[in-house]
Amino acid sequence: MDITRRAVVPLLLAPLCLLGQTNAGDQEWAAFLDWVKALPPGAIPSTSVEPFAGYQKKLIADGVSPKDAEALTARLRTRSAHNPEWMAVRLNWTYSQEGHHREKPDAFLVETAGALRPGKALDLGMGEGRNAIYLAQHGWDVTGLDVSDVGVAHAKEKARKLGVRIDARVQDVYLFDFGANQWDLVCLLYFHISDHESTYQQIARGLKPAGHVIVEDPVRPAMETLLQAREKWEATKLHILRMEYLEGWSEWGQDQEPLGRLLLQKPA
Ligand SMILES: C[S@@+](CC[C@H](N)C(=O)[O-])C[C@H]1O[C@@H](n2cnc3c(N)ncnc32)[C@H](O)[C@@H]1O
Repeated sequence: MDITRRAVVPLLLAPLCLLGQTNAGDQEWAAFLDWVKALPPGAIPSTSVEPFAGYQKKLIADGVSPKDAEALTARLRTRSAHNPEWMAVRLNWTYSQEGHHREKPDAFLVETAGALRPGKALDLGMGEGRNAIYLAQHGWDVTGLDVSDVGVAHAKEKARKLGVRIDARVQDVYLFDFGANQWDLVCLLYFHISDHESTYQQIARGLKPAGHVIVEDPVRPAMETLLQAREKWEATKLHILRMEYLEGWSEWGQDQEPLGRLLLQKPA
């Protein structure tokens, strides 16, 4: 190897080493998920903090040095951000607990979809299906997607008991093929698109001409989050029919947090 290649190889490897320091490897991640999944339901609340602290304690009890346990936990946290597997674990906890079930459909959905002619609807992050079931009860042909298998199972069971049909799938929204000109309505109700900018365009492409998108989400920290969301939707060329910023209780949050709502339509 000549001197130039010897200098270049470590330079090329350096970013990989750095990556290894910040993001947990597959084996580390799998071991963490196995540990978490073996916990009894309700043992850990579905906050993003406690599981990592608990795992750090377990590592130290297993003989890992406190410094290494802290570093590994930090890598696991990094890997968990916007990670569908992690989202599924957390939401499976939520949906397995008593008192966490939301039954009533979203008020904004009821108001807006009620004025539309039923067609093919897609509910992104459907949870336990309160909105998908509402739409199906009102004549829509509904497909609902969620990474939480527990949520999807609950949605199917509820639909079965109510005698309505929904196509509920365990599916990562970011890997879904929205197709072209397929959907009359796409719902993002407390489902926030994070780190996947192309999803906005995919949704717009998947909508039929004159199809609608309904969005309701807490806006953290405040108004500017809604304005940023509006910019992202504007780039898709969908028309913004309604935009609302409400100070009030979100249907999903536990605290009083401001809420953003958007109603969009694809040009006919
Ligand atoms: C806050 S809940 C809202 C559930 C439902 N839309 C409602 O209003 O009752 C968000 C849902 O999105 C799901 N989710 C998050 N990321 C996802 C992804 N990448 N693909 C599919 N579902 C996802 C979660 O599992 C969770 O059920």
